[in-house]
Amino acid sequence: MSQPTIESILQENRLFHPSAEFSQKAQIKSLDEYHRLYEQAKADPQAFWAHLAETELDWFQKWDTVLDWQPPFAKWFVNGKLNISYNCLDRHLTTWRRNKAALIWEGEPGDSRTLTYAQLHREVCQFANALKHLGVQKGDRVGIYMPMIPEAAIAMLACARIGAAHTVVFGGFSAEALRDRLVDGQARVVVTADGGWRKDAIVPLKEQVDKALADGSVPSVTNTLVVKRTGQETHMLGDRDHWWHDLQKQVSADCPAEPMDSEDLLFILYTSGSTGKPKGVVHTTGGYNLYTHITTKWIFDLQDTDVYWCTADVGWITGHSYIVYGPLSNGATTVMYEGAPRTSNPGCFWDVIEKHGVNVFYTAPTAIRAFIKMGDEHPKARNLSSLRLLGTVGEPINPEAWIWYQQVIGGGRCPIVDTWWQTETGGIMITALPGAIPTKPGSATLPFPGVLADIIDLEGKAVGANEGGYLAIRHPWPGMMRTVYGDPDRFRRTYWEHVPPKEGQYLYFAGDGARRDEDGYFWVMGRVDDVINVAGHRLGTMEIESALVSHPAVAEAAVVGKPDELKGQDIVAFVTLEGTYSPSDDLLKELKQHVVKEIGAIARPGEIRFADALPKTRSGKIMRRLLRDLASGVEISGDTSTLEDRSVLEKLRQG
Ligand code: WTA
Repeated sequence: MSQPTIESILQENRLFHPSAEFSQKAQIKSLDEYHRLYEQAKADPQAFWAHLAETELDWFQKWDTVLDWQPPFAKWFVNGKLNISYNCLDRHLTTWRRNKAALIWEGEPGDSRTLTYAQLHREVCQFANALKHLGVQKGDRVGIYMPMIPEAAIAMLACARIGAAHTVVFGGFSAEALRDRLVDGQARVVVTADGGWRKDAIVPLKEQVDKALADGSVPSVTNTLVVKRTGQETHMLGDRDHWWHDLQKQVSADCPAEPMDSEDLLFILYTSGSTGKPKGVVHTTGGYNLYTHITTKWIFDLQDTDVYWCTADVGWITGHSYIVYGPLSNGATTVMYEGAPRTSNPGCFWDVIEKHGVNVFYTAPTAIRAFIKMGDEHPKARNLSSLRLLGTVGEPINPEAWIWYQQVIGGGRCPIVDTWWQTETGGIMITALPGAIPTKPGSATLPFPGVLADIIDLEGKAVGANEGGYLAIRHPWPGMMRTVYGDPDRFRRTYWEHVPPKEGQYLYFAGDGARRDEDGYFWVMGRVDDVINVAGHRLGTMEIESALVSHPAVAEAAVVGKPDELKGQDIVAFVTLEGTYSPSDDLLKELKQHVVKEIGAIARPGEIRFADALPKTRSGKIMRRLLRDLASGVEISGDTSTLEDRSVLEKLRQG
């Protein structure tokens, strides 16, 4: 199993149609209906989005202007007032959904919990009051560093309810990475747990928080709120740290949702780019609520009795948009699972599907490939007949994995939605609508209505069918990021001026290479910048290089991705050492561990190669392109004439 190559994808022309039965019951029932919606949205985007905002969401006060576009800064539903926690909870309480399961949670060791909409609402209100009790106010930021337990979603909704912005930091990030994000977001409170389960071990999250906050290194943080999950001994610091179960007894369950402006900050989520430290992607209330709501409804084709499961972690955008906000805004039943695919329990995903009768299942190609490797006997030993729709996200899916997913998991009857999007886009942008759009294995198919996606060259001109180019979006959409937190200039430069705007026409540069075939289907090939995608986790090569050079033995480091059967890509680091150090196995281990300490286990290099020197141009720039070829074990392609010293390459080749 491998990453799709251009050759395999060019040959891929199988077309799969949804069954008539599926289409009849679907939210969007035919290709014609999709085309109608698409054309309608293209002709008058503002009317299209305004109609949906009016019919799909509850507002405390209607907006005056649908879109205020001062490129590249957009405001959607200007002066509208709403609260996303109200749309996710309160509005369902006056309907039959009051006692419907909102959240079904499955812990890694096999414990589980179900919260109805009424119960989830109560917990969110209490949690919101606990945050207020700690002094959190509208406009503050709250860090959330949690395992995959219901309280992670509860904390997010509680922040939204009182108008505090959350900044969720994936529980697999190290104390150092957590500290950087808390400092940048100036968080006032950190919500965490004593620990969480990850691949049969307890991750001591609170201990990491203590390290991150040590010696007053995050002065903005005054308190932590700690959920008891694993029960191991946990150090609590005097006035700073509070147990959630203690505070819960002191607060009321009455907390009306704060009316928020459409453009009030909802959350910051940090993501990696090609330069510098991770950037805080800013999402605001109204547009994000609408965009995640309608994409969830049409793409996952939610029906009232569906049990829907997205396997992402809430620490990533997929967890934000498609475990928490999108499904709950629709009044759906959303499943949350603490465990990850692991060889010690090769049937874990299929057990959850069988146990809870999951109908709609959304996961990542890397997980699919891991399960393929563990063997068909595991899914085949479970009853997966409840499934009716499958989804995938995070990286290109190779056609072999697509077919396995369709046959072995979907029993040949479930459509697959391959969804392309990013932290920055807030929600899904290119995807099949499952009852309407026939699918081709490996293609994300067509843009969602209202998304004017294109493949362009670096001048911004559209390229022809089947010509490779860069993926770009030509018109603002409600779920788009608004800025980089504290750095609007970086926002402008990174996404909107990469292709110089002409005559005031700005377009959003996604950073992915792609092509469009003769049917208009999009085939996303992967990143064109220095971002690598390791097991669906997005990492900047610069971040890993900075982590390496912060070790005293390292003089210089260059990090590249190489294709990997399971993870899609793996990290290879080329390292030169300071004079007094020499290469050894111990040093190799130490450097890998150092990266884990600086960033987290997801960034551990698969391979570190010691080198005397790195290949550079005469102006001193590292020629990563050559290193990429070397790491992948392929012939070095392209021009090497700008290389300053050709012997460097020869030496690296000889290892
Ligand atoms: C990649 C995750 C191909 C892409 C939601 C993008 C994909 C990056 C797909 C964003 C897909 C995501 N097909 N590539 N269906 N989905 N990607 O911000 O390179 O963690 O730019 O958001 O993942 O990663 P992020």
